Amino acid sequence: MPTYVITGSNRGIGLEFIRQLVQSPDNTILALVRNLSKDHSDLKALANDKTHILECDTSSLSSIRDFAKTARSTLGDSTKIDYVINNAGINLSAQNSSLQLAPDDLLESIRTNVLGPAKLVEFLLQQGVLSENVRVQNMSTGLASLKRTVDGEDRMCAGYCISKAALNMLSAHLAVDLRKAGLKGATVIMMDPGWVKTDMGGKSAQLSPEESVGGQLKVLQGLKEEDNGKFFRYAGDQVPW
Ligand SMILES: NC(=O)c1ccc[n+]([C@@H]2O[C@H](COP(=O)([O-])OP(=O)(O)OC[C@H]3O[C@@H](n4cnc5c(N)ncnc54)[C@H](OP(=O)(O)O)[C@@H]3O)[C@@H](O)[C@H]2O)c1
Repeated sequence: MPTYVITGSNRGIGLEFIRQLVQSPDNTILALVRNLSKDHSDLKALANDKTHILECDTSSLSSIRDFAKTARSTLGDSTKIDYVINNAGINLSAQNSSLQLAPDDLLESIRTNVLGPAKLVEFLLQQGVLSENVRVQNMSTGLASLKRTVDGEDRMCAGYCISKAALNMLSAHLAVDLRKAGLKGATVIMMDPGWVKTDMGGKSAQLSPEESVGGQLKVLQGLKEEDNGKFFRYAGDQVPW
């Protein structure tokens, strides 16, 4: 009876996670959205009686803290979270190179793409709702690979890539720190979902959300403890750091 938490579940890749996870009646799903008062009809149309649509603005520490408390009260004392999918993300000033970084956009990207995932895990740990074998998937991108960036000719979305490379480093730290904190089988990975047709990926992207998320779930659900700290692509191969 696994329990999942997915941030940014109202559209794009996050919504597709919900669509695939509700297929299994065993799954309890905490489907997180930035603002509950917005229209979430697509998400509500998918939800079943084990899907809890809850608010979590990953750019706001108070919102993340409130969500962690709500997770505790929603799940009760005996149900623990088995999977945390830090999916919510932003790509601001995508056309800017490293010589044109927009300070406010870079700081907002770090806040949402790095601090949000970090604090979500930290506050859920504090609430005692993470399973001892929790799997944490931080949504990265192949564009955050230092090796690929150094080896390749093209550079794009500089601020976004900087924030996702920082998310990768966060993951490397969390992989050790969660186990030190007592979650002996905790396994933290980074995921490159491929180039996916969503608002962020655009219409020219290579993959449907179905194909990307189908692959990601296979990787996530098949993780072993020795996969802790690895950087996977949706198809199961590894991305060079
Ligand atoms: N699509 C791709 O090709 C691709 C490639 C590599 C990596 N990724 C990563 O995959 C993840 C999902 O991407 P996507 O393509 O599905 O993007 P998307 O279509 O732009 O959807 C982004 C999701 O993140 C949510 N979000 C953004 N900021 C938030 C905040 N402060 N609090 C709560 N939710 C927030 C959005 O909610 P709102 O509706 O409220 O804005 C939305 O649900 C991102 O982390 C992205 O960086 C995507």
